[in-house]
Amino acid sequence: MEKLGPGSDADTLQVLAMIPRDGFSLVVDAGSGIGRQTLALASRLQTTVHAVDTAAKHLDSLGRYSAQLGIEHLVQTHCMDMADIPAIFRDVDLLWSECAAYHIGFPNALASWLHAIRPGGYAVISELSWLRDEVPEHVHTYFRRGYPDMRTVDENLSIAHAAGYEVIATHILSRAAWIDGYYDKLEPLARSLLDHPEQAVRTFAAQTLEGIHVFDSAADNYGYVFYVLRKPVGETTAVA
Ligand SMILES: C[S@@+](CC[C@H](N)C(=O)[O-])C[C@H]1O[C@@H](n2cnc3c(N)ncnc32)[C@H](O)[C@@H]1O
Repeated sequence: MEKLGPGSDADTLQVLAMIPRDGFSLVVDAGSGIGRQTLALASRLQTTVHAVDTAAKHLDSLGRYSAQLGIEHLVQTHCMDMADIPAIFRDVDLLWSECAAYHIGFPNALASWLHAIRPGGYAVISELSWLRDEVPEHVHTYFRRGYPDMRTVDENLSIAHAAGYEVIATHILSRAAWIDGYYDKLEPLARSLLDHPEQAVRTFAAQTLEGIHVFDSAADNYGYVFYVLRKPVGETTAVA
């Protein structure tokens, strides 16, 4: 897979342009995976991006891709838990995280990363969110099992405010970013695994296809929402 989750460089760069500032000296990408967005950010900003992930093999791939693009000097990898970012990084200008914060819980990620961000610095975090109040039952059923913690955009904005951030903007990931290079690759792969000898693999393949079916039938009910947040100037946070 060329992508580990839904996303696109076009969306990443569109969201980057929503930040009313350029020139960032310390940029951290939390849960970078193989680094599609890391590379997009590093190329655009021409600044070192610190890619944090617990999976060494993903970071190895990112190292290879950055070398292929000739920007290895702009990518530094850190094999570590993103929950530990405040213990390692101080005065972060821009903390980016696509499709990954849920691993440590969106509210927990926001509260914890605030300690690493400098006053006036930014956090851009994408999170799967409900886009409508009324959602078809089959969609609810699917996500009750797959992501029971999913919240509405308003609920996530309240969490951001309560954690101490100002909300600058939101952006809903484009439909194309779910399909191109992600669902269009995942679907045939999952189909080919429906007869796999291992039950766990067959179950995973079937659940993947169900997710794609839910997306095809009801994608406007939910989406990956980028929350563009700023730590207020003058805000001080206790040492984590
Ligand atoms: C769905 S992938 C998204 C990767 C990338 N941000 C993207 O959008 O393509 C989630 C990534 O989070 C990483 N991850 C999961 N838990 C983590 C943790 N506690 N600390 C750091 N990385 C973590 C996984 O290894 C994986 O690479």
